[in-house]
Amino acid sequence: MRNWIEFPRTEGKTSRQAHADLPAGTYEREIGRDGFFGPAAHIYHRHPPTGWTSFDGPLRPRAFDAVAAAQPVAEPFRGAQLLSNAFCRIALWKVEVVMPRLQRNADGDVLMFVHVGEGDLFCDFGHMTYREGDYLLMPRGTMWRLAPAAPTTVLLIEATNGAYRLPDRGVLGPHAFFDSAALETPRLDDTFRTQRDGEWQVQVKRRGQITTITYPFNPLDAVGWKGNLAPVKLNWRDIRPVASHRYHLPPSVHSTFVADRFVVCTFVPRPIESDPGALKVPFFHANDDFDEVIFYHAGDFFSRDNIRPGMTTFHPAGFTHGPHPKAFATGATGARAMTDEVAVMIDARDALDMGEGALSCEDVSYVDSWKKK
Ligand SMILES: [Fe+2]
Repeated sequence: MRNWIEFPRTEGKTSRQAHADLPAGTYEREIGRDGFFGPAAHIYHRHPPTGWTSFDGPLRPRAFDAVAAAQPVAEPFRGAQLLSNAFCRIALWKVEVVMPRLQRNADGDVLMFVHVGEGDLFCDFGHMTYREGDYLLMPRGTMWRLAPAAPTTVLLIEATNGAYRLPDRGVLGPHAFFDSAALETPRLDDTFRTQRDGEWQVQVKRRGQITTITYPFNPLDAVGWKGNLAPVKLNWRDIRPVASHRYHLPPSVHSTFVADRFVVCTFVPRPIESDPGALKVPFFHANDDFDEVIFYHAGDFFSRDNIRPGMTTFHPAGFTHGPHPKAFATGATGARAMTDEVAVMIDARDALDMGEGALSCEDVSYVDSWKKK
């Protein structure tokens, strides 16, 4: 048995409730362990923790526009590598043609978030359509291909040597956030049955290397399937966010899929806190145990001044961050009633490395974006 060394204390001027009714003129910073679940302290500062005049070194936050930089390719595992560690690999993949070969990932589950595009997905389990805003989760070992009806851009998140699961909804009950009945599975329909037969190739990825297997027939030839394992589809529009009008909830309440040592959260439009004393933008924090990645899909990201859809930000663990000055000021006026952002966040327990795809399109001025203009 191991216990945290925890014993709540209060020193000096504080609020009685985190993220609400801060002492006048102060900026609250959270130091915390285990994402937003472990012991934490709130420190009330006289200056914003992001009010630096210079920030030099490898801890600096990163922003990059991989969607603009990536080239279309029919092979998903040759997309632009953005960030990776031993448990998680994040890439940006563009596909504009009907994929001529099937794909199978022997390295782990593949979660795809469709940023742009629409079309058909064919796999061992049948056929599904897809469109912008869909998550497509392909279990490890599944053969699949996309047939885009429009050029398609995908954020691809591999659970390397692992599996995706659903988060524990705790006191919210099993049907909160989204009902499992909203998850769609493929069908063995006429579109599936009328696929081209004849010679087909399957590309299998194992330990990052591709093996090509040729069949004299189409291996997507199932006449039936049964069991409790299947690809699933979920659109962000089927997510019903958890919110409080009196308390700024931590991003962990937006958890959508949980893998080994990382979590995928979805930010969807939600009401902004209306209580006069409640913080209306994210609190300053460093998420001291997790690297944070956010892919901006649509809308006006409410805590950032200068981020466009298709961009990605990377905040390494230990980097203290919070709302940009303009967003902080707008939040303080209470003028906005709803957020309209849609974004995918990946929080990784182990340090992520920047890949070539991210380095090729980095906005190196991002660290300066917290400076007051
Ligand atoms: Fe954060």
